[in-house]
This record gives sequence, structure tokens and C-alpha cells, in this order.
Amino acid sequence: MDHPLVIFAVSVIFGFLVCGEAPFVKMTNAVCKSYNQSWVVVHYCRLKAYSRSKTSLNINATFIEPANNISVHAKTMKRANGYKPFLFDFTIDACEFMRRRNHPVAKIVWNMIKNVSTVNHTCPYEGLQMVSDFHHIEVPIPLPSGDYLLLIDWLFDGKPQFATNVYFTFVEDLLPTSSKHRRSSLSFRIDV
Ligand SMILES: *[C@@H]1O[C@H](CO)[C@@H](O)[C@H](O)[C@H]1NC(C)=O
Ligand SMILES: *[C@@H]1O[C@H](CO)[C@@H](O)[C@H](O)[C@H]1NC(C)=O
Ligand SMILES: *[C@@H]1O[C@H](CO)[C@@H](O)[C@H](O)[C@H]1NC(C)=O
Ligand SMILES: *[C@@H]1O[C@H](CO)[C@@H](O)[C@H](O)[C@H]1NC(C)=O
Ligand SMILES: *[C@@H]1O[C@H](CO)[C@@H](O)[C@H](O)[C@H]1NC(C)=O
Repeated sequence: MDHPLVIFAVSVIFGFLVCGEAPFVKMTNAVCKSYNQSWVVVHYCRLKAYSRSKTSLNINATFIEPANNISVHAKTMKRANGYKPFLFDFTIDACEFMRRRNHPVAKIVWNMIKNVSTVNHTCPYEGLQMVSDFHHIEVPIPLPSGDYLLLIDWLFDGKPQFATNVYFTFVEDLLPTSSKHRRSSLSFRIDV
């Protein structure tokens, strides 16, 4: 584990312990792009609006050739005079992760999307890949309010093939609740 990841993991644990309010999270934009049309074609990458405060993410892409060696480079940014790197930036071997679920941050994301995606198996991946109507977000960390961007680059054989970038807004819930309530919650759940 590298240093920023340890800090992140510690803040996750801290967040579980001290932060029980229900904050508000909303995906505000999704941008996907293929860097190599002969391997990955993105058909669809869009948010669907449910209401003013709810959106769902839908991605539909085809891997034309089988992908046996996939890594994921994930990076979070926070907006402050443009988007600046914030909190984490890591690369994992996605094929190994699907075999072992061995990365704590990737596991948080995996647990959120596993029910709504077609990726519940190990490598190789080929053909249509989808995330359908993803809207159930659980953020087990105490983020400051603001605008964020989760950048994910997907590399096959060490070379970038496509990106899935999701913008979201996070608002801390500042309404007073009883401290008993706050401290007894071990995690919070947000439906956006
Ligand atoms: C693009 O995709 C083709 C087809 O799978 C592959 O042979 C080639 O190496 C890829 N190019 C890059 C730069 O990844
Ligand atoms: C994925 O997108 C393509 C292109 O828009 C469409 O033809 C196909 O029906 C979609 N597949 C699913 C399962 O939604
Ligand atoms: C995924 O589905 C299982 C079984 O249907 C359910 O218990 C679980 O709460 C769901 N998880 C999410 C994140 O929706
Ligand atoms: C993923 O697949 C495994 C093996 O088929 C199954 O046991 C598990 O319930 C699946 N999980 C989800 C979330 O669909
Ligand atoms: C994946 O591909 C990269 C670049 O070619 C290589 O360095 C790496 O060892 C490969 N990983 C596996 C598990 O084969």
C-alpha cells in the first residue's frame, strides 16, 4: 500500500466512526471516451434525470477484442479554480481484483455497481459491457461539500483504451441531529 492510500484508508475508517449524517450526493455529468476505436466502442454514456436531486448513470460499450490484461487508473479531483487532484490516485490490476477483491477503495466502488453492471465475472472481458441505471451511492467517507470528478482510465496491456469520467456534487448535511444519532450510525447511505 502506498502512502496516500493509507491516508485514504484511515480517513475511511475515521469516517465510519465519526460521520453518521446523511449527506447529499448527485452525479452531474458523465463523459466517456474511447482512445482506441478498434478495441473499445462507447455507444452510450449518460446520466438520466429522475428529479432535481436524482440522476442515474448508464454506460454501454463494446469490447471488440477480448481483454485479458486490464488495469484501472482512478483519480479523484475537487473543484477549486479548476479541478485539482484530491484524496486519491491509484492504479490496480482489475483482473486480479475480480479474482481476489483485494483493494479497499475499489471494493467500495465495486459494491456499489455490482448489482447494476455486467462485469460480475473474471477476465477476459469481450463484447457488450454495461452499467444500467446506477443510482445507489454510498460514500463512506467524510467529504467536504463541493464539486468532484472521478476520472477512470481503463488500460489494456498497459495502454489506455477508454475513459469513464463522472462529475458529482457532494453537500454535507448540516442540519442538526442528536449526537446520539450521529455517533451510533456506522455508515451512511444516500439514494441520489
Ligand atoms: C488498439 O486496439 C487494437 C485491437 O485490439 C490493438 O491491436 C492495438 O494494440 C491497440 N492499440 C493501442 C495503442 O492500444
Ligand atoms: C447499447 O447501445 C447500442 C448503441 O446505441 C444499442 O444498439 C444497444 O441496443 C444497446 N444495448 C443495450 C443492451 O442497451
Ligand atoms: C444488491 O442486491 C442484493 C440482493 O438482491 C441486495 O441485498 C443488495 O442490497 C444490493 N446492493 C445494492 C448496493 O443495491
Ligand atoms: C456474482 O457472481 C457470483 C458467481 O456467479 C455469484 O455468486 C454472486 O452472487 C454474483 N454477485 C452479484 C452481485 O450478482
Ligand atoms: C499486462 O500488460 C503489461 C504491459 O504489457 C505488462 O507489463 C504486465 O505484466 C501485464 N500483466 C499481466 C498480469 O500479464
